[in-house]
Amino acid sequence: MSALPLTERRRIAGLHRWEDRQDSAIGWRLLHQLAGERDVTVRRGANGRPCSDSPVDVSLSHQGGWIAAVASGTGRIGIDVETLREVAPSLAQRCLSAAELAWLKGAQPGVPRSLRFSRLWTAKEAYLKATGVGLAADPREISIDHTGDEPRLLGLGAGCWRFSSWTPAPGVCVAVCVECEP
Ligand SMILES: CC(C)(COP(=O)(O)OP(=O)(O)OC[C@H]1O[C@@H](n2cnc3c(N)ncnc32)[C@H](O)[C@@H]1OP(=O)(O)O)[C@@H](O)C(=O)NCCC(=O)NCCS
Repeated sequence: MSALPLTERRRIAGLHRWEDRQDSAIGWRLLHQLAGERDVTVRRGANGRPCSDSPVDVSLSHQGGWIAAVASGTGRIGIDVETLREVAPSLAQRCLSAAELAWLKGAQPGVPRSLRFSRLWTAKEAYLKATGVGLAADPREISIDHTGDEPRLLGLGAGCWRFSSWTPAPGVCVAVCVECEP
């Protein structure tokens, strides 16, 4: 904690759960380390988004003791890590576009529904974090195609974003979204 700026130390100290304090503190140490390796600084920008000095961008995600931090030297970047969970149909309907819901309902032998949901959701959240909008946007208005090996953004600006998605351990899903040349 002592390596973090006072504002971050105060924010972290104010978090209710110790697990959240730990995840956020480690996450920000990782962000500072990634920035330090590139001779730039990291700070909290608009809408709570971590940011760095151009052209470097950074992103952070943490859930349930899983902490993921990334840096890019080529464009905006977002990351999301989630542990798999059963998702009620009503929640899926609030989070996913019609095309995503159809993919989720479709038959995929051997791939549990919770994993399919997490693949879509982490990719979508990584994109929303890369843009800095977060969940201020309606997530149903963003559509991710996951019929190929990697997620793909559908619609306007789709060619400007590249995704990578993987499971670092059973029950955990990670997605990264990075801005690229169209
Ligand atoms: C950014 C946001 C998307 C957070 O997502 P999350 O899944 O709760 O949390 P994550 O661990 O993935 O990300 C948290 C980190 O994102 C970063 N972050 C915060 N605001 C951000 C923004 N606008 N853009 C990009 N990154 C942001 C922060 O570094 C934060 O960690 P910190 O608080 O320790 O600094 C936020 O906008 C939000 O509203 N989350 C609500 C989650 C939700 O409602 N999920 C419903 C599932 S259907």
